[in-house]
Amino acid sequence: MAQGDLSMFLGQLVRKPHQVVALAPSSGALCAEMAAQIDPDAGPLIELGAGTGTITRAILARGLPPQQLHSIEMNPDFCTRLRTEFPGIHVHEMSAGDIGTLPVDGCQAVVSGLPLLSMPLDLQRAILTGTIARAAPGASFTQFTYGPQPPVARALRDELNLSWRVSRKIWWNLPPARVYRFSWPG
Ligand SMILES: C[S@@+](CC[C@H](N)C(=O)[O-])C[C@H]1O[C@@H](n2cnc3c(N)ncnc32)[C@H](O)[C@@H]1O
Repeated sequence: MAQGDLSMFLGQLVRKPHQVVALAPSSGALCAEMAAQIDPDAGPLIELGAGTGTITRAILARGLPPQQLHSIEMNPDFCTRLRTEFPGIHVHEMSAGDIGTLPVDGCQAVVSGLPLLSMPLDLQRAILTGTIARAAPGASFTQFTYGPQPPVARALRDELNLSWRVSRKIWWNLPPARVYRFSWPG
C-alpha cells in the first residue's frame, strides 16, 4: 500500500461510509487473488470502485498496459489520487451503474471492489448487464466478499443465469474474504 493510502481511505470512510463500506483497503493477498487471472495480452479491463488503488496496483503488476485499464470510481478525491498514482490509466469519475455507457468493447474482465451486495437490486442489475454488454466472449466479473453468500443478489444470479467459481478463503485481509468469478452464457 502506498504511503498515505490508509489515512486517505479512513478519512473517506468517515465522510462517506455508505460508499466505502469497508474497514480497510483490500490487503495485498486479496488484491493478488483479484488480479490472478488477468492476461496482459487479452485486451482491455474495467475496474469498479478503485478507491485508493490497491487492486489497481495488483492489476498493473500483472503486466497489463496502463492504457488498457479503465478504472471507475465515483469519489472525486479518490479519482484525483488514482490519476496521480497511476499515469496512463483511464480514470472515469462516474457511477459503476453507468458502466454500460463506457466506450470500451471486448473487455477480458470486470474486476470489482464495490460493496455490491449492499447496493439496491436495480443498481446491481445495471452493473451486471452493463458488464455483459462491454465484455468479450468468455469474460468474467470478479468480486470479493466478506460473507458466506455469493456477492450478487440471488434474484439477479437467476435472471442472468450466472455461474461462478470461488477462491479459497483469504485470511490475510480485514476481514477475511473470498473472491468470486462470475460468468454467463454466450
Ligand atoms: C470497499 S471500497 C474498495 C476500495 C478498493 N478497491 C479496495 O479494494 O481496497 C469501495 C469503493 O467503491 C466506491 N463506490 C461505491 N459505490 C460506487 C458506485 N456506485 N460507483 C463507483 N464507485 C463506487 C467507493 O467510493 C469506494 O472507493
